[in-house]
Amino acid sequence: MTDFAIKLQQWFTVNKRELPWRMVNDPYKVWLSEIILQQTQVVQGESYYLKFVDSFPTVFDLASASEDRVLRRWQGLGYYSRARNLHAAAKTIVDDYNGVFPNTFNDIIKLKGVGPYTAAAIASICFDEPCAVVDGNVFRFISRLKGISTAIDSTVGKKEFSQIADELLDKENAGEHNQAMMEMGALVCRPSNPLCHDCPFNTDCVALASKQIGNLPYKEKR
Ligand code: ADE
Repeated sequence: MTDFAIKLQQWFTVNKRELPWRMVNDPYKVWLSEIILQQTQVVQGESYYLKFVDSFPTVFDLASASEDRVLRRWQGLGYYSRARNLHAAAKTIVDDYNGVFPNTFNDIIKLKGVGPYTAAAIASICFDEPCAVVDGNVFRFISRLKGISTAIDSTVGKKEFSQIADELLDKENAGEHNQAMMEMGALVCRPSNPLCHDCPFNTDCVALASKQIGNLPYKEKR
């Protein structure tokens, strides 16, 4: 394990939020949570997640529900294509996988509505596959830590940041590591008013040393 991964894990153990989908290791529930969190903050997403799981406790319940009922439970979250894709993917899991959630990145990414970010999150959190997750939180944290000003919404930027995330990844502990990276971005390395004083990486952070925190991450489209 690298010094970076050790420090990150120590910080996460003490500071992680007890989120409902972290209490279980059910890929169905992790999938739901990650789809909700694509466009919704954890604070708002949590209650929707709980209502949704209450209405559809298993992938079979979701697959056999009417689209109307699924969309009603989604009401307030917006981006309804997420709910339609979720419903379609649940049917695929029941029809093509006998209701057993696919357990590799390559199969998970084939599900409707699942992109590289979500597939990496599920594969690492549920099946410990060593794939790095790069979401908005991770872009911000890496960009500041390493002082990288490549635009995060450019093709080269996406490639560069993924590569660094792969290098930083603790491959023996990918699920925890990825959640810790996201949690750092969400709780400490926040978009505005980051808590650099409390950050375990404040002596390593290039952006902090060069007073660039406010300018990073850089985006082409502002
Ligand atoms: N944002 C999206 N997924 C997350 C996760 N698993 N932990 C923390 N923040 C997240």
